[in-house]
Amino acid sequence: MTLETGSGFLLFAFLHRGIFCSFLAQPSDSGINTGGYQEKPAAGLISTAGSWSLREVRTAETLALWDGEPASPSWKAPGLPRTLPHSRRELRPSELQVLLESSRKCEAGESRKRRPSSALCGSPVLNKAKYGPIWINRLGPQIHVNLASAPLLEQVMRQEGKYPVRNDMELWKEHRDQQGLTYGPFTMQGQQWYRLRQALNQRLLKPAEAALYTDALNEVIEDFMTRLNQQRAESASGDHVPDIAHNFYFFALEAVCYVLFEKRIGCLERSIPQDTKTFVRSVGLMFQNSLYATFLPKWTRSLLPFWRRYLDGWNTIFSFGKKLIDQKLEEIEAQLQTGGPEKAQISGYLHFLLTSGQLSPRDAEGSLPELLMAGVDTTSNTLTWALYHLSKNPEIQAALHEEVVGMVPAGQVPQYKDFAHMPLLKAVLKETLRLYPVVPVNSRVIVDKEIEVGGFLFPKNTQFVFCHYVVSRDPCIFPEPDSFQPQRWLRKSQPDALRAQHPFGSVPFGYGVRACLGRRIAELEMQLLLTRLIQQYEVALAPETGEVTSVARIVLVPNKKVGLRFLQRQS
Ligand code: HEM
Repeated sequence: MTLETGSGFLLFAFLHRGIFCSFLAQPSDSGINTGGYQEKPAAGLISTAGSWSLREVRTAETLALWDGEPASPSWKAPGLPRTLPHSRRELRPSELQVLLESSRKCEAGESRKRRPSSALCGSPVLNKAKYGPIWINRLGPQIHVNLASAPLLEQVMRQEGKYPVRNDMELWKEHRDQQGLTYGPFTMQGQQWYRLRQALNQRLLKPAEAALYTDALNEVIEDFMTRLNQQRAESASGDHVPDIAHNFYFFALEAVCYVLFEKRIGCLERSIPQDTKTFVRSVGLMFQNSLYATFLPKWTRSLLPFWRRYLDGWNTIFSFGKKLIDQKLEEIEAQLQTGGPEKAQISGYLHFLLTSGQLSPRDAEGSLPELLMAGVDTTSNTLTWALYHLSKNPEIQAALHEEVVGMVPAGQVPQYKDFAHMPLLKAVLKETLRLYPVVPVNSRVIVDKEIEVGGFLFPKNTQFVFCHYVVSRDPCIFPEPDSFQPQRWLRKSQPDALRAQHPFGSVPFGYGVRACLGRRIAELEMQLLLTRLIQQYEVALAPETGEVTSVARIVLVPNKKVGLRFLQRQS
C-alpha cells in the first residue's frame, strides 16, 4: 500500500495557530527573556494573590502575524515544517533591538515593573522551565494564557460552564458554510452543540454502550491479524513488519468506519477499493492543505492552489460519508417496507441515530465525518507507542502476556467483560497516553464569566491553553516522568505516598461534558487489539528501528518508522 497516512490529528491544531505554533516551536537558542513581571499583570488581568510569576511571551511567529504585512518568503518560524511557504516578513531590526534590550534589562533586574515586550518562543516544555506554570502568548489581538500545572488545569476545568468552548474552529466552519453543510460536534457551539452532543452521546459514551461494538471490533481485528500475518510471512525473516503505524492507521480507519457507519470499507484487504483509496487521499489532502490555509493570509487563496485542494479534500470526505448514510437510509426504508416498524432492527450507531428521531440525515452528514476524523490517528498512534514500549520492556511485556492468557487463553477471542480483570493492560494504555497524550495541547475559552486562576482574575473570553504534554511529565506527580512504568497506575504496587496522583495530571481524553466522545470506543478498540497481539506474539523491536523519539506533528508521532518483529508464541 502506498497511500499516505498518518496525516495528523489536526482537529484542534491548524485552527489554532497561536496555540500550536508554540507547541511546534523548537527550542529557541536565543536565550532571550524579555522581562516578565510579577507585581503587575498584563492589562485586563488583576492579581488577587500575586504569587505567580506571570510573564508575557510574544513569539517570533506571533510577531510575524501581528502586523499582517506582506510576506518575505525567507522568514521561517522556528519548528514549522520546512515545506511551508511562509508569507511573513522578517523581524525588523528595530523589533529585534527591543527584544534584546528588554532581555538585557530583565537580566539586570530592571524590567520587573515594566510591561514586557516579547520573547522568542520555545516549546511549552522550555517555556515552563523558563517562566513557571503560567505564562502568556499573544497572537494578534488574542491573548493566550498557557497553563502547565495540574492544579491550574483543574481550576479552569472545574469552572467551565454548561456549554464549554474549545475554540472557534474557523477553518472547518468556513468549509461547512461554503458548502451549506451543518456543523458537527467539533464545529458547533453553545446550546446547539449541547443538543447535538445529547444525541451523539447515546450508544457511544458509556462503557456499557461501547461494549455493544465488541463483536464488530473483533471482526475487524480478525482481518487485521490475517493481514499482519501475510505481511510477516512475506518478509525475509518471516516475522517482520517495517512500519507498524501504517498498519494501525488502516486498522483504525476500518474499525471506526464499521462502528459509526456499520459498513466495511476494505482497508484491510490486499487490494483496497478505489473509493476507500480516494477517501484516504482526500484526508491527507485536507490536512496538508489546512496547514497552508492556517498560516497564509486569505488573499492568497485565490492565487495559490491550497484553498481549492483543502475544500476538495473535505468535499470528498463528506461525500464518502453521505454515500454511506444514503445506503443506510435505503436499508432502513427496505426493512420498514418488508416488515413494518416493529421489524426494523436497531443495530449499530448510524441506524440508531437515524431511527431514534433525534438526528436528521442532514445532521448525521454534518457530524459523522467529524467523528471519523477524530477516530483514526488518535488510536493508531497510541497503539504504535504502546507496542514500541512493550517491545523495549520485555519484562513488562511478559507480565502482560501472563495477565492476557490468564483471562483469554490462546485461541479465544477477548470480550468486554474480560477487561475488568486485566489491570495491567489498562495501565499500559494509561501510561502510553501519559507519555504521548494524543492532544498534547488543548484549550478552553470561558465565555460566560470572569474566572480566577492561579491567584489572577481573568476577564470573560480569555483563551486558556492546557499544556497537557508538560503536565503529564511533571516529576512532582510522576516520578521518573520520561520512563515507561505502567505499574505506577496499579494500586497494589504503589507505596502510599504515590497513590494520590493528581486527578488532572494526565487527562488524555479531556474533561467534562465536552470531553472525548469516542473515549470508550477507543479504549475498547485498543484493549481488544492489544490483547490479541500479545496473546499471539512476542513483540520485539526490529534492529533497524533503534531509538524512537516523538515529534509534534500536532499528534505526537514517531520521528521514524517503527519496525517490529512479531514472534509467534507457542500455544
Ligand atoms: C486514543 C484515542 C483518543 C484520544 C486520546 C482522544 C482525545 C480527545 C481529546 C483530548 C478531545 C478534546 C476533549 C476536550 O476538549 O476536553 C477529544 C474530543 C473528541 N473526540 Fe477524541 N480521542 C480519541 C479517540 C476518539 C475516537 C475513536 C473518536 C470517535 C469515534 C473520537 C471523537 C471525538 C470527538 C467527536 C470529540 C469532540 C467532542 C466535542 O467537542 O463535543 N475520539 N478527543
